Amino acid sequence: MEPTPQTEPAHLAGRRPSETVASPADLGTRLEQTGYLADGALATIAWLAVRMGRPLLLEGEPGTGKTALAESLGRALDLPVLRLQCYEGIDASQALYDWDFPRQILHLRALEATRAAPAPGPPEARNSAAPGLPEAGLTTAPGSAGTDLAAVEDQLFTERFLLARPVLRALRDAPVVLLVDEIDRADDEFEAFLLEVLSTWQVSIPELGTVRAPTPPVVVLTSNRTRDLHDALKRRCLYHWIDHPGLERELQIVRRHLPHIPDLLAEQVVLACQRLREGHQPAGDLVKPPGVAETIDWARALLELGAVDLDVETAAATLGVAVKHRDDAERVRAALDRVLTR
Ligand SMILES: Nc1ncnc2c1ncn2[C@@H]1O[C@H](COP(=O)(O)OP(=O)(O)O)[C@@H](O)[C@H]1O
Ligand SMILES: [Mg+2]
Repeated sequence: MEPTPQTEPAHLAGRRPSETVASPADLGTRLEQTGYLADGALATIAWLAVRMGRPLLLEGEPGTGKTALAESLGRALDLPVLRLQCYEGIDASQALYDWDFPRQILHLRALEATRAAPAPGPPEARNSAAPGLPEAGLTTAPGSAGTDLAAVEDQLFTERFLLARPVLRALRDAPVVLLVDEIDRADDEFEAFLLEVLSTWQVSIPELGTVRAPTPPVVVLTSNRTRDLHDALKRRCLYHWIDHPGLERELQIVRRHLPHIPDLLAEQVVLACQRLREGHQPAGDLVKPPGVAETIDWARALLELGAVDLDVETAAATLGVAVKHRDDAERVRAALDRVLTR
């Protein structure tokens, strides 16, 4: 059964990030101040996610600004961003915590060494066990070995030897922004684990107890949609598909990133990238059409070269900045004159 969304305790209201941003328009302005241009729909859904304490799932082609939104949201809300990059085979220990095994071993050795060393005082008061044996250090009186061992184990499984990973840190340190990046790369089991955390805002560590978020972290999940996510996870989240920006918005984005770019160059690069994303364009459908990241990179590369406009020759020489698939590159190169005509 799907857990019901949790409502936040009223006494925490003062600390919630939702209190600091009055409206979607306000959030949009703040995002813009951090350099991220969100359209009205994105600003609204992001604001609602913050306001309602629900995770925000962003899907879209690579390079459409999903990761960047989470990072900007952190700056806009003045919260730290904790990032969990997902990959095939990721499991809960990489998301939550691990025990620092090498340090635990070192600690044990140190304990052994100090306890095995002969204590000052009369010889009869010292430990009578054979020197050099590890047990000698852990036994101080007959019958106390068991308690001693338990005490040592207790020492080993404390905060001191805990390696907290992003999800645990997010619960512990909330309010924060937790970015779960490229969730589509992880497998079903990990998705189920995440759903549990995002529904209860708590995890239990057998050796330490339960860690409960004092207030829900702002969670942004991103997916490049290499596979469909489960309905249960989607139901828990608010959802937004980020499309490639239109011409005007992409121009603004490029200018935000490269304020000194000549107008003509910015327009030509953006137009070329926009065109390469369309079907039925001179180079045909591309396997990997350029994202916003590629547009910005291409414009930056041309600036580095001192170009003031984008002609066929310069475009051919720099194409690898924007088009990163061999077949695509060949087709684009062959059609460059038509891709670049205004
Ligand atoms: N709306 C936007 N406003 C500002 N910069 C953007 C926007 N969309 C994308 N970018 C820029 O494009 C680049 C790629 O975005 P990124 O978040 O890495 O894409 P994704 O995570 O969707 O693959 C980043 O440098 C980001 O700053
Ligand atoms: Mg990304």
